[in-house]
Amino acid sequence: MKLLLIGAGGREHALAWKIAQSPQCDKLYIAPGNAGTKNCGENVPIPINDFEKLKAFCVDNQIDMVVVGPEDPLVNGIYDNFKADARTKDIPVIGPSKAGAMLEGSKDFAKTFMQRHSIPTAKYKTISKTNLEEGLQFLSELQAPYVLKADGLCAGKGVLILPTLEEAQKELREMLDGMFGNASTHVVIEEFLSGIECSVFVLTDGKDYKILPEAKDYKRIGEHDTGLNTGGMGSVSPVPFATKDWMQKVEERIIRPTIVGLQQEHIDYKGFIFFGLINVKGNPMVIEYNCRMGDPETESVMLRIKSDLVDLFNGVAEGNLSTRSLTIDERAAVCVMLVSGGYPGHYQKGFPIHGLEHTGESVIFHSGTAEQKNEVVTHGGRVLAISSYGKDKDEALQKSFATAQRITFEGKYFRSDIGKDL
Ligand code: AMP
Ligand code: GLY
Repeated sequence: MKLLLIGAGGREHALAWKIAQSPQCDKLYIAPGNAGTKNCGENVPIPINDFEKLKAFCVDNQIDMVVVGPEDPLVNGIYDNFKADARTKDIPVIGPSKAGAMLEGSKDFAKTFMQRHSIPTAKYKTISKTNLEEGLQFLSELQAPYVLKADGLCAGKGVLILPTLEEAQKELREMLDGMFGNASTHVVIEEFLSGIECSVFVLTDGKDYKILPEAKDYKRIGEHDTGLNTGGMGSVSPVPFATKDWMQKVEERIIRPTIVGLQQEHIDYKGFIFFGLINVKGNPMVIEYNCRMGDPETESVMLRIKSDLVDLFNGVAEGNLSTRSLTIDERAAVCVMLVSGGYPGHYQKGFPIHGLEHTGESVIFHSGTAEQKNEVVTHGGRVLAISSYGKDKDEALQKSFATAQRITFEGKYFRSDIGKDL
């Protein structure tokens, strides 16, 4: 088979690494990819949202399957766009329809969906300028801290957690006044939930599903979860509190009702669903849905999938996922992100990266890298994901930290407390 993977981050490098191992994969292209994905296939310089160019590439190169990494093209309707074109309608796209991607593309849609299907989530109200008074009132009925979420996609930046009612009411007005452009013309106000978070992933053909290894993500820039939010500073899989009992609750109360809900609402969904969960006194609740895999969770999760990922994708495409097998590696897998100095604030790009050959016992996934004059240079806030296996998370972390020390670039930073809280 010839596959086209769309995206350019660490998640896509990890997916490319896994896809390239499949005996069914004869050729893998990555659009646009990065300096790391080049080692798994061929990068093609097409932007992720240029559907016309992507389709033309698929036609010209007889692509058999398209796998979509990031949310943007999914929310923009890449699935529907391929289906609506006579030339590409028969090429399976791994990723939901535009309607399905609304689970991530609109927080209000996700909340009403959960309400319709009795899926446990925080109490909420959706506010626009027309019912601002209701929003201010709802805030005053909640306890601190206050959670405000822009309805639309904001590259992970649209959630504010505010310590006082005054700040929450002020920020609510500012969000509605366009703090996040059109994404915050509607704002979801939520009750604050307290607990540890866990990312759970399924791959679904719309009827059946496979539960992939769960992972914990470390979002803050500073050690001990301090400082600004980032795209994710590391991940650990498995998650100790995600016991068999807990995962059974997740499946019964959250996963199954979500899949059944999508079917009942005639929403075409063939791809990954990412359940951002929080453990509230032993009970899982949904913080958010994403219509794709997590980053940097994928950089741990892919290590733990023993089965052929392309075979699973074929199960999704053919609607017979239940006939495919998913086997999980019992070992732990972790990922430690190396980021640019200054990230998630302002940072410089273009610093040469040294020591990439010192992989040790780790697998190095590129997040934000580029090639300049035959040299790999930093090209993003998150630069490299250092993933490792271990008999347990501590052994795996030791390997990732050792590799993280050996790789150098100006301004390099990483959190050395990944996994230590578990
Ligand atoms: P989201 O983009 O919805 O995942 O929100 C980003 C982050 O904000 C989450 O990963 C949580 O850490 C936090 N968060 C979101 N909603 C809540 C909530 N209702 N209670 C507590 N924390 C939340
Ligand atoms: N790691 C969180 C995300 O991918 O959204």
